[in-house]
Amino acid sequence: MYKIAVIPGDGTGPEVTAEAVKVLKTASEKFGFKYETTEFNFGGERYMKTGETLPDEAVEELRGFDSILLGAIGHPDVPPGILEKGILLKARFELDQYINLRPVRLYPGVDTPLKDKGPDEIDYCVIRENTGDQYTGAGGFTLKGTPDEVAIQTAVYNRFQVDRCLKYAFEYTRKNGKKARGKGEDNTLALVGKTNVLTYIYDLWYRAFHEMGKKEYPDIKLEYYHVDATCMWMVKSPEWFDVLVTGNMFGDIITDLGAITQGGMGLAAGGNINPEGVGMFEPIGGSAPKYTGKGVINPLAAVCAGAMMLDTLGESKAAAAIETSVKHITANKLESMDAGRMGFSTSEVGDLVAQHLADQ
Ligand code: IPM
Ligand code: MN
Repeated sequence: MYKIAVIPGDGTGPEVTAEAVKVLKTASEKFGFKYETTEFNFGGERYMKTGETLPDEAVEELRGFDSILLGAIGHPDVPPGILEKGILLKARFELDQYINLRPVRLYPGVDTPLKDKGPDEIDYCVIRENTGDQYTGAGGFTLKGTPDEVAIQTAVYNRFQVDRCLKYAFEYTRKNGKKARGKGEDNTLALVGKTNVLTYIYDLWYRAFHEMGKKEYPDIKLEYYHVDATCMWMVKSPEWFDVLVTGNMFGDIITDLGAITQGGMGLAAGGNINPEGVGMFEPIGGSAPKYTGKGVINPLAAVCAGAMMLDTLGESKAAAAIETSVKHITANKLESMDAGRMGFSTSEVGDLVAQHLADQ
């Protein structure tokens, strides 16, 4: 019995989460696993009423679940940073979800802004370290508000954080790289950094990457790219990539670029994973306030987040079947992936996936 915490969150979060849960139910009937969901109302509305973001007791409670499914966090009436830091980043840090797994996969029938590229070319995965870098909050102001003001926000990594992320990345590549999937001759892991300027942080990453690769993963091909060049190749030649691993800040930025190449935020799913603990799975788009309550938002990213959750829980057959159904829907049913132009409502799209899954 899997205990799943559901945090629908703000804006369109509840609408897309409902469809992910709908598909989860169908998957459980078909594949014979059992689960129960418990809903939590963390988000902007609760913050405005109570001043609470994610209280410490709630973090403790969340530790008792097998996984967390998150809709979206972000509210137009709450200043930037409060909910992001107070809920999303707090959960990632406190639950030590040190991996942010973000596949960049173009599904059939989905438009990409990349000319002459299709599902065969756009098919790689970014592993973003999820606890360090400029995200730790190390830094501060002096002389704030004066003409001499100084602001510092420091990128922080220690060897332990880097090594555990790399280990996950190597293992992931061995299991899911292009060779393992029958799509290429090698399983390739590329480190994305900036060794020419960030000569401390990415020097550490570079040394750790090559040491581990040589010693423990001689079967995996190693590559290195600077982050700026990576952005260029993600647009020009995405087919070069297999698995990419990088720090928190670069990972944040390049995965938005990746998401738009796979058809936009309606499709992009991510997992915040603690391989020894509780993960949190989310569509990586925001709360889309302007579409809230209209039933027009695309729920497929949330459905795919649910599939990633099942894969991480060990239900890989169910996860793969959901992905197959999503591909069927994008290829044969939806007119567009964009909100309001799908040709179906949010809940109808969930129904289409669930129905196809049940009939597989
Ligand atoms: C993401 C988001 C978050 C991040 C924000 C909302 C804090 O952009 O999940 O990519 O920067 O990690
Ligand atoms: Mn981001």
